[in-house]
Amino acid sequence: MPIQVTNIGGFIVNNFVLETSAGIIVIDTGYPGSVGRFLSRFQSKWPLSDLKAIVLTHHHDDHAGFLGELLEHCDAQVILHPLALPWLAAGSNSQPPGAGYTSRPAALIGRLRRTVSYPPVQLGNRAILVRDGQDQVFEQRGLPIRLITLPGHTADSIGLFLPESKLLFCGDAAMNAPISAARHAIWIEDQADYGRSWDKMLALRPARVYPSHGLPFHPRDLARYRHFLDNRPLIPPNKSR
Ligand SMILES: [Fe+2]
Repeated sequence: MPIQVTNIGGFIVNNFVLETSAGIIVIDTGYPGSVGRFLSRFQSKWPLSDLKAIVLTHHHDDHAGFLGELLEHCDAQVILHPLALPWLAAGSNSQPPGAGYTSRPAALIGRLRRTVSYPPVQLGNRAILVRDGQDQVFEQRGLPIRLITLPGHTADSIGLFLPESKLLFCGDAAMNAPISAARHAIWIEDQADYGRSWDKMLALRPARVYPSHGLPFHPRDLARYRHFLDNRPLIPPNKSR
């Protein structure tokens, strides 16, 4: 059966629901405090017992904010990069040296945010780790869903590629939000890694790119804007104030 894709996310963060022959996979959660809205949207279409896996594209608060609460309501496993684990356990966003915003509006938004913390999450044996391209939990289960590592926005960023429909779910490796310039994420930890992840996405030759923020877009934009950030220094968070 072809994988059906539905977005039950809100205004800021998309929550893509993949209906597969092995149950439902959800991509990311959302900000802390919004699990009720997610549950009502999900349960208006499917029983929660159908939710088998949550793919966490990375540990940021707008993606992992109600992960812990959601896990209390279901038996789903969590597919994620191992570098997400310590940040989930701390309930905070990483901010390594060299990281920064890609535009002044993005830096301003970052400055206005009151907190980037969320309820800590201990996954225990519910975690399935994606260390590199060899860890393909869905393909091992017979599902045509490829997991890809996409570091740069964060070190733990991962995405999903559906080879049959050629849809690419890229998390925050690219964005299509009003404050993201040229489809780039508003925050980047490592610019070199980030560029390589765009090359990796381009090499997949996707038919459509589904970012976590904003509408899906044509992959020609990845080629068009691949070098947009070259020679543009990131704006450090402490200099944006
Ligand atoms: Fe993010």
